[in-house]
Amino acid sequence: MSASQGNRRKQIVVAITGATGATLGINLLIALRHLNVETHLIMSKWAESTIKYETDYHPSNVKALADHVYNINDMAAPISSGSFHTDGMIIVPCSMKTLAAISSGLCNDLISRAADVMLKERRKLVLVTRETPLSDIHLRNMLSVSRSGAIIFPPVPAFYIKPSSVEDLVNQSVGRMLDLFNLDTGTFERWSGWEKD
Ligand SMILES: Cc1cc2nc3c(=O)[nH]c(=O)nc-3n(C[C@H](O)[C@H](O)[C@H](O)COP(=O)(O)O)c2cc1C
Ligand SMILES: *[C@@H]1O[C@H](CO)[C@@H](O)[C@H](O)[C@H]1NC(C)=O
Repeated sequence: MSASQGNRRKQIVVAITGATGATLGINLLIALRHLNVETHLIMSKWAESTIKYETDYHPSNVKALADHVYNINDMAAPISSGSFHTDGMIIVPCSMKTLAAISSGLCNDLISRAADVMLKERRKLVLVTRETPLSDIHLRNMLSVSRSGAIIFPPVPAFYIKPSSVEDLVNQSVGRMLDLFNLDTGTFERWSGWEKD
C-alpha cells in the first residue's frame, strides 16, 4: 500500500431518496463535512421534492454540501463500479421503493446500482429505511438485504436522551448511523447508565 493510500480521506457514498426525513440526509452531509470525510452524493427525483417540501434547503444547496455529486441516471459514474474504492454507503432516508430495488438486485438507477456494488464487494451498506407501519413485503425485503450484508437502520427516536428539539433527535440518529462507520460526531448524548439526582 502506498503512503497516499494509507493516508487517504475516508470516502462515503451518501444517497438521499424520497422517503420523509430529508433533514436526516442533510444533517449527515454536514456531519461528514465536519469529520473531513469525502462525500459522494446521489439524490433521487423524489428526494428533491421532499427536500423542498420538508426543509429550508433547495436541492442545489444540499448538493453543495457534498464533495462529488452524481446524476441518478449516470450509470457510468465511478461509484457504479466496484473498482472505485469507497468505505461504504448510506442511504438516508431510504424509501421502500429503493429498498425493493436493492433487495431484488434491480440496479435500474445509480442508487440501487451503487448499493448493489457495496454488497458484492462486501463493503458497508447502511439503509435508513423509513416507513410505518411495515407490510410483509417491506419486512421481507429488509430481511433479505440484511442477510446479504446490509445494515437496516430505521431512524427510530431514542427518548432516553430527553430531546428538547427535533434537532436533538436528528443529531442522535445521525450520530448512531456514523458510529457504524467508526466516526464520532460528538453531537449527541450517549447512554451511560441511569442519571443520579
Ligand atoms: C412527502 C412524501 C413523503 C414520503 N414518505 C415516504 C416514506 O416515508 N417512505 C417511503 O417508502 N416512501 C415515501 N414516499 C413515497 C416515495 O417518495 C416514492 O415511493 C418514490 O417513488 C420513492 O422513489 P425513490 O426511492 O427513487 O426516491 C413519500 C413521498 C412523499 C411525496
Ligand atoms: C447538531 O449537530 C450539529 C453538527 O452536525 C451541531 O452544529 C448542532 O449544534 C447540533 N445540535 C444540537 C441541538 O446539539
